Amino acid sequence: MRDHKITTDFTIYENVDELSSSQKKLLLKAIEIRDQAYAPYSQFSVGAAVLMENGEIFTGNNQENAAYPSGICAERVAIWTAMASLPQGRIKTIFISARSDKTIVDRPVAPCGACRQAIAEYETRQEEDIEIFFTGEKGKIVKSNSIKDLLPWMFDNSMLS
Ligand code: THU
Repeated sequence: MRDHKITTDFTIYENVDELSSSQKKLLLKAIEIRDQAYAPYSQFSVGAAVLMENGEIFTGNNQENAAYPSGICAERVAIWTAMASLPQGRIKTIFISARSDKTIVDRPVAPCGACRQAIAEYETRQEEDIEIFFTGEKGKIVKSNSIKDLLPWMFDNSMLS
């Protein structure tokens, strides 16, 4: 028997000013779509912007439902819109921004477990890492260079064979 440890890497940007202009552009897309979220129950709005390898950007926001579990997160709306539109497309970067009507979200909001699993599917398939940025309404921005840093020990298709 032997104990093991997994470490993960990420970068923290102090604020928007530390982002490059293309990163800022993607953040602005995430903010724009975030503010169109349908989140009457949680009053917590999330937006995601997906940059594809060919330069196209797809966006999505959370869509809630009176039957709560029938709602869906912003990240999956954005990723599935991208992959439905460009079935052979490759995802380069995902930028996520969150805001609440109840409080100022001043810390980075990480993607939920189900969204991490959805991102993992496409990173595995394209065999190229996906950069993931996440932030709140203001403050620090976190970047992971790969979903592997957010979802260690992930389940992927290699386990099915
Ligand atoms: N939400 C997202 O859109 N993405 C996440 O990664 C976490 C949570 C949404 C789901 C729900 O509409 C609201 O935020 C509160 O959980």
